[in-house]
Amino acid sequence: MTLPKSEYVSDTWKDGIFNKKVVFCTGGAGTICSAQVRALVHLGADACIVGRNVEKTEQAAKDIAAVRPGAKVIGIGSVDVRKFDSLKDAVDRCVKELGRIDYVIAGAAGNFLASINQLSVNAFKSVMDIDVLGSYNTLKATLPHLVESAESHRVDSKTCKLAPPEGIRCLVLTDTQVKPSPQGTGGRIIFVSATLHYTGVPFQTHVSVAKAGVDALSNNTALEFGPLGVTSNIIAPGPIANTEGASRLIPEQDLEEVTRGQPLGRFGSVRDIADATVYLFSDAGSYVSGQTLVVDGASWRIASSS
Ligand code: HXC
Repeated sequence: MTLPKSEYVSDTWKDGIFNKKVVFCTGGAGTICSAQVRALVHLGADACIVGRNVEKTEQAAKDIAAVRPGAKVIGIGSVDVRKFDSLKDAVDRCVKELGRIDYVIAGAAGNFLASINQLSVNAFKSVMDIDVLGSYNTLKATLPHLVESAESHRVDSKTCKLAPPEGIRCLVLTDTQVKPSPQGTGGRIIFVSATLHYTGVPFQTHVSVAKAGVDALSNNTALEFGPLGVTSNIIAPGPIANTEGASRLIPEQDLEEVTRGQPLGRFGSVRDIADATVYLFSDAGSYVSGQTLVVDGASWRIASSS
């Protein structure tokens, strides 16, 4: 069943801006990542989502594909982001079946509440491995395709070798500039991080340390691969309603009080994260790289001011 566009993404965005584009997403069966992919698919993209659980990942792919007639969404289960080869196989399958990868969302993450004392060495390592090593593996496995996608948007300034899409004049560009495109651009990665490590949050040491590493990975990617036309950014969600993260971290009995205590008096929705994703992958986000887009209604500032 196709619901109105506003269920998935803001009406601000034009339909079809991601036509002929392909997004690859880890953790794609999770609440936040599936909403990100759903929005991109609604706006024209095809997608590959990967996860550890086969049934959950395949079902999520079917649900996402239902938002737009003709959408191709592949769910690849049994993929553990901690294992490079498993991820590489998924990337190869994605490119074989959908032809390319223009956008990547590194969203796979692990989390639970535990004090430093309670954490076993293996528990700490598990979260580091899923979040940091998993994000690195995702970047490494998809990078050749991101570079290729970015390259396909370049234009030779003198000859305009790559014909500009209809309606876009051949701008005077240098070899290192990226051509604007009416259908979105390519060669972009978003790492899904958090705000926990800005202040420190009790019982979240493992995740805070891991997300600090993810942020560093994104910032370095922006610098190293910017010259090849690749952009890298972080989305840091705050408290988002009806997500696995929120239900793991906020006890049911505290939910109302925590909600009332938010600067905007409410939690965010998964659509808020989807809209931020669309912005960063759209033409509007072309010159944004090496940044963190915090989508939390100013929530982390409460912690920093108290
Ligand atoms: C203490 C725990 C624990 C807990 C697991 N462990 N849960 N320790 N408290 N609640 C320990 C185990 O005992 C084990 O250590 C080690 O962690 C690894 O556990 P396994 O279950 O063997 O590992 P694995 O199957 O790989 O599971 C990884 C996981 C799990 C991270 C532990 O929770 C997971 O798969 N999570 C993925 C889904 C998820 O977390 N989604 C939420 C994302 S939300 P020992 O020593 O016994 O071997 C999110 C938002 C963050 O990330 C930001 C919020 C604001």
